[in-house]
Amino acid sequence: MKLKYLVTLAVIVTVAGVNAAIVTTVKGREKMDIKKEVFGTTKDGQEADLYTLRNANGLTIKITNYGGIVTELHVPDRDGNLDDIVLGYKSLDKYIANSPYFGAIVGRYANRIADGKFTLGGKEYTLAKNEKGINHLHGGTKGFDKVLWEAEPMETDEGPALKLSYTSADGEEGYPGQLNCTVIYTLTNNNELKINYEAKTDKATVLNITHHGYFNLAGQSSGDILSHKLMLNADFYTPVDKNLIPTGEIKSVSGTPLDFRKPTAIGARIDQVKGGYDHNFVLNKPERGALSLAAEVYEKGSGRMMQVFTTEPGIQFYSGNFLNGSNKGKGTVYNKHWAFALETQHFPDSPNKPHFPSVVLKPGEKYEHTAVLKFSTK
Ligand code: GLA
Repeated sequence: MKLKYLVTLAVIVTVAGVNAAIVTTVKGREKMDIKKEVFGTTKDGQEADLYTLRNANGLTIKITNYGGIVTELHVPDRDGNLDDIVLGYKSLDKYIANSPYFGAIVGRYANRIADGKFTLGGKEYTLAKNEKGINHLHGGTKGFDKVLWEAEPMETDEGPALKLSYTSADGEEGYPGQLNCTVIYTLTNNNELKINYEAKTDKATVLNITHHGYFNLAGQSSGDILSHKLMLNADFYTPVDKNLIPTGEIKSVSGTPLDFRKPTAIGARIDQVKGGYDHNFVLNKPERGALSLAAEVYEKGSGRMMQVFTTEPGIQFYSGNFLNGSNKGKGTVYNKHWAFALETQHFPDSPNKPHFPSVVLKPGEKYEHTAVLKFSTK
C-alpha cells in the first residue's frame, strides 16, 4: 500500500520576533512545504503575509496576500540550477510605493476600458481614468493588485496551494455588484503554476481577472528578453488605436510582426512594432472555454521553457515596454524589455465592444478562469 500523508508536522518557529509557521508534509518520498511569515504593514496598518510554497521537485514560489503578488518563482534550468524568473521587489513598501503590477492579480477589469465608461442594463457606469487620464486600466485606482486578500494555505493532491479570497463591495472602483472572488495558486508536482479564478456577483457586472507576472526565463536580473523565442497559438489579434484601445477589428496576424505561430525571437521584429508588443491575441481554441495551449516561451541559455495554457479567449503579450530603469527590483534595476508578460484574459474594452466575447457576469452565474504555466527544460 502506498503510504499517503505519512507524516504531517507543524512547527511554529519564532524568527527575530516574526512568527513563521512551517508545515511539512511527507507524502511517501515526496516532500512539500508551506511557510508563512510577515511581509510588512500596509499604509492603514494591516499586516501582509508572505507564503513560501515548495513542490516535491524543489520549485519554490513566494506569494503575498497583498495584491496576491507572486514575489519570487524559482525554477530549474537544464542543469537543475534554480533561479528566480519573475521581476519584483524584496519588500512590501516598494510594491506599495510604485509597481507596474509586478506579479499581481489584476481586476476587476484587467487591461483597458476606453474613456473609463461602459453601459450595462441601460445604465452608464463611470470608472477612474487612471491611465494618463484617458483609459481605465487594470481595475482603477485601487484594484485587486492593491488590496489585502484573505489567505488559506492548502496541501492538495497536486501540490501545495494558496487560496486567496476577496470581497469587492458593490460600487467599488465604480463597478456594480458585490463580487466574491477566489484565486487559487497551486504549485503542482508536475512543475506547473496553476491559477484558478472564480467569482460570483449579486448584480449584473463586468469583469476580467488575470495574473500580471513579469517573466525572464534567464533569471530576473539577467537583462532583456529579446532573444527568448515565443510561440503564440493565435491566427488573429485585436488591433489597437494610439491609446491602446481595440479598434474592434479582428485581424489576421499573417504577414505582420505579430505572427508568432512558429517560435520566433521576441526581438526579431520588435522594431517594426511602434512602442513594442502590447497586444491582445485571439487564441485558437478547439472549443470556447477549453483549457488549451496559448503560448510557449523558450530561453536557449538556461534551457528553460514556459508553456501557458488557458480557458480564456485571449492573451495579452506585453514586452516590458514601459520598464525604464526606474524600478529598483531584487538587486537590480529593470530596463526596457527586461521581461515579458502573457496575461490570459478576455479582450480589452469588451464592455464597449458587443461583438467581443461577453464579460458580463449575472447573479446565479459563476466566473471561472484557469491558467496553467508549465515549466520544463530542453
Ligand atoms: C499591461 C498593459 C501594458 C501595461 C502593463 C503595465 O500589460 O497592456 O500596456 O499597462 O500592463 O505596465
